[in-house]
Amino acid sequence: MLSVQGLTKRFGDKTAVDKASFTVEKPAMIGIIGRSGAGKSTLLRMMNRLADVSEGSMVYNDVEISSLRGADKREWQSRCAMIFQQFNLVPRMDVVSNVLHGTLNRRSTLASMFNLYPQVDIHKAIEILDRLGIAEQAAKRAEALSGGQQQRVAIARALMQDPQIILADEPIASLDPMNAQIVMEALRRIHEEDGRMVICNLHTLDTARRYCDRVIGMRDGRIVFDGTPAQLTTGVARDIYGAGDDFSEAATSTEIETLDRSDSARAVPA
Ligand SMILES: Nc1ncnc2c1ncn2[C@@H]1O[C@H](COP(=O)(O)OP(=O)(O)OP(=O)(O)O)[C@@H](O)[C@H]1O
Ligand SMILES: [Mg+2]
Repeated sequence: MLSVQGLTKRFGDKTAVDKASFTVEKPAMIGIIGRSGAGKSTLLRMMNRLADVSEGSMVYNDVEISSLRGADKREWQSRCAMIFQQFNLVPRMDVVSNVLHGTLNRRSTLASMFNLYPQVDIHKAIEILDRLGIAEQAAKRAEALSGGQQQRVAIARALMQDPQIILADEPIASLDPMNAQIVMEALRRIHEEDGRMVICNLHTLDTARRYCDRVIGMRDGRIVFDGTPAQLTTGVARDIYGAGDDFSEAATSTEIETLDRSDSARAVPA
């Protein structure tokens, strides 16, 4: 269903994603892990076509995605919704209107200008908010909600497009543990109940293990691991993160940066 082959992104001399290849046969929940700068965001951005592809191919249901232009590209972007760490809501706008923004792609400019939403879309938006447990927040301004609630609004906005794929770039990196759990459970349910493919960049290993069927590990732009959480041993994880013996399973990529710094600090002779 999805086949990514030799996908590469260069920024000048820098190769951010280096010949990434993987295939997905049926909708799955996939986590992408790796330290800061490994190329996780760039990979998702190419998949959504927010970033152009330097080289390689990406075929979804027999359509080459990497060369789509204009209306075809926009159509793909609505089939393949993206969720971000910072939610990207319109803060002063109410929750329902934020969710209805997910239909912008298919409405006329005039209807969008005057915020004219068909009744059926408004019902659908409320239904989706209800499913995510935040229907009672519908009339509030987005900025009045907690981070976890805002991220659920962003998920609702994505669902409004009825996407086949949801790409989430560190969706829980700004949330406290309880809200992080609620958001990951929502994504998991959307995958299981609706059969949508979810590909999620994740900051912590234990989250990837807990919620994903499959984990892809990236290091220096390359895919260095692709397997089940059970195959992801501590040794493999250490290799993905390029960490030393003091690597701990619970560490986040940010903490690993800190570990590295303390390593180099220790390397300086007293
Ligand atoms: N627009 C850009 N211009 C130049 N270099 C870029 C650009 N975007 C990303 N890069 C570089 O590409 C590499 C991969 O970046 P990317 O943001 O994909 O990493 P990441 O794995 O998402 O990291 P993080 O965990 O910090 O989000 C980095 O070295 C980054 O500096
Ligand atoms: Mg990133």
